[in-house]
Amino acid sequence: MNTTVLVTGGAGFIGSNFVHMLVELRPDWRIVNLDALTYAGNRENLAAVEDRKGYRFVHGDIRKEEDVEAAFAAAKGAPGDRLLVVHFAAESHVDRSIVSGLPFVTTNVVGTQVLLDAARRHAVARFVHVSTDEVYGTLGATGAFREDTPLSPNSPYSASKAASDLLVRAAVHTHGLDACITRCSNNYGPYQFPEKLLPLVIANASEGKPLPIYGDGLQVRDWLYVRDHAEAILAVLEKGRKGEVYNIGGNNEMTNLALVRCVLAELAAPESLITYVKDRPGHDRRYAIDASKIRAEIGWAPRFTFETALPLTVRWYRSETEWLQRVRSGAYREYYARQYGARGDPA
Ligand code: NAD
Ligand code: DAU
Repeated sequence: MNTTVLVTGGAGFIGSNFVHMLVELRPDWRIVNLDALTYAGNRENLAAVEDRKGYRFVHGDIRKEEDVEAAFAAAKGAPGDRLLVVHFAAESHVDRSIVSGLPFVTTNVVGTQVLLDAARRHAVARFVHVSTDEVYGTLGATGAFREDTPLSPNSPYSASKAASDLLVRAAVHTHGLDACITRCSNNYGPYQFPEKLLPLVIANASEGKPLPIYGDGLQVRDWLYVRDHAEAILAVLEKGRKGEVYNIGGNNEMTNLALVRCVLAELAAPESLITYVKDRPGHDRRYAIDASKIRAEIGWAPRFTFETALPLTVRWYRSETEWLQRVRSGAYREYYARQYGARGDPA
């Protein structure tokens, strides 16, 4: 039986890492990548697989039925072949959702429904919806999100992801679609767009520029190396139970300030670069993940420690300076100037 995976958002950060992993671990699978190439999508991330037999890029928007149909047509195999969908495509940045929520609703909510409808029409064997721990809201000093923690999203981004999770749930219950939902904590690693904290501070610190820390910097996030997330998604795709939600986390909670200090130490850059700026409105204070379900049911656990994967990540951004220069040009530059003003301008 042949397998084809339709990946949405495969030109983004996690999607491109997932495609690289699939090529390595499931070399026989065909891959179709549907991506609109928004400011966050970059075909260069997949340059090494572009010409590979069995890989096909479809430039299209998940909000448009005709684009989604074109991707399914490209993914169509012979009778009896297996068709899987892994859905990454989204507007993913909380700060942008605060500036303008509408693209988050159209892509994350409407786009997900368009895909779910198409998945039913095309008899998809398994649909994995890649979601986030942010749908659970924020935690106090103790405790961790479990899969049965009530959804309590606080930003337009997380509200749109929670809405899409509910649409996936409804497709399972109403239409019998075989779908799973994953909810992961903060990822780091190669190909992350430098609007997100970690690549932003690596890039700025390397150039001796200020590192913007929102509020007091004592917000807590759980950090997971992107390759571990990609492997967890593959494990859910192959071994998850229909209709189930799986939390994915790194068991690696730290404050933003502690994280930034680790980057500074890695680069031997001075603490004086740390610059406190106005806090993010509605900023969630603490996230932590209880990932015992995926470990117990599927046997997934992270393989990378923060101590090994942070240096790998810092080295990657230090060596891929041309990639960084290119993604920091154009639309990103305008956004950066709006977000941080002249003081933090990377130019
Ligand atoms: P990203 O912003 O780097 O990439 C998103 C990709 O989706 C881009 O390639 C973009 O071009 C594409 N896209 C956006 N709108 C589209 C549309 N309308 N049609 C088709 N393609 C479109 O995002 P990421 O950080 O790689 O996140 C991927 C997924 O994982 C998202 O669903 C996000 O919510 C989720 N997630 C991210 C993290 C994280 O730490 N980055 C953690 C947990 C979950
Ligand atoms: O938790 C999973 C989520 O992680 C994903 O669902 C999102 O798609 C992804 O973007 C990420 O969201 P965050 O808001 O946590 O990531 P970000 O890198 O934007 O911010 C991490 C923390 O650092 C957060 O507490 C805000 C803070 N921050 C961020 C930026 C960009 C700063 O202090 N300064 C900054 O300049």
